[in-house]
Amino acid sequence: MVVIENLLAPQEVARFREVLLSLPWADGKGTAMGMAADVKNNHQADPANPGVQQLANQLLARMGETPRLVSAALPHRIFPPVFNRYGETEEYGWHVDGAIMRIPGSAEVLRSDMSMTLFLNEPDEYAGGELVIATEFGEQRVKLAAGSAVVYPSSSLHKVTAVTAGQRIAAITWMQSMVADGAMRQTLFELDQSIQTLLRQGQVDRAELDRLHHIYHNLIRQCAAV
Ligand code: NI
Repeated sequence: MVVIENLLAPQEVARFREVLLSLPWADGKGTAMGMAADVKNNHQADPANPGVQQLANQLLARMGETPRLVSAALPHRIFPPVFNRYGETEEYGWHVDGAIMRIPGSAEVLRSDMSMTLFLNEPDEYAGGELVIATEFGEQRVKLAAGSAVVYPSSSLHKVTAVTAGQRIAAITWMQSMVADGAMRQTLFELDQSIQTLLRQGQVDRAELDRLHHIYHNLIRQCAAV
């Protein structure tokens, strides 16, 4: 589970919200697959709306140019971001995201390896509405600042607890990673983060840093499918 702080700047969050709040919202059950529909109780912005598509494209571009996110997910394909809203009493019970998703308007499919939730409200603007992710170390409860995102394995059981006051607006998307194996993906992320830290500290021998960098890229060559 990786947190990406300030994926969107405050002015961008404000604009996203302004656009989204001016649009009609549809029942989220329409897009839940199989059993997930039974536990899904929220609203979703119309993905065919040009304003929504523009926001989705802006977010996709930002994701691609955010090194920490790219390093964590090593995305090969990204599902066009979906915007949802939870009003009072709305929630999404325990579920696992569908493994194979058809990309709307195309013949392509993607395998969901990593899921992302981008928060578009400040935590104090609503009560409840936590993203709860079941991990091998217990439940992780996530409620981030507006503009920040969490990336987590799509294979994990997760839920959004009921909003009890205010409303919660978020963007969600799924990524097929170039590295299918989650443990390998995590190891590569840790290696890259370590290299970036050493680079920032600037006290490491350059040749050793280059060697680590080569190792990282050669590992990617060995286990990435593109
Ligand atoms: Ni989900």
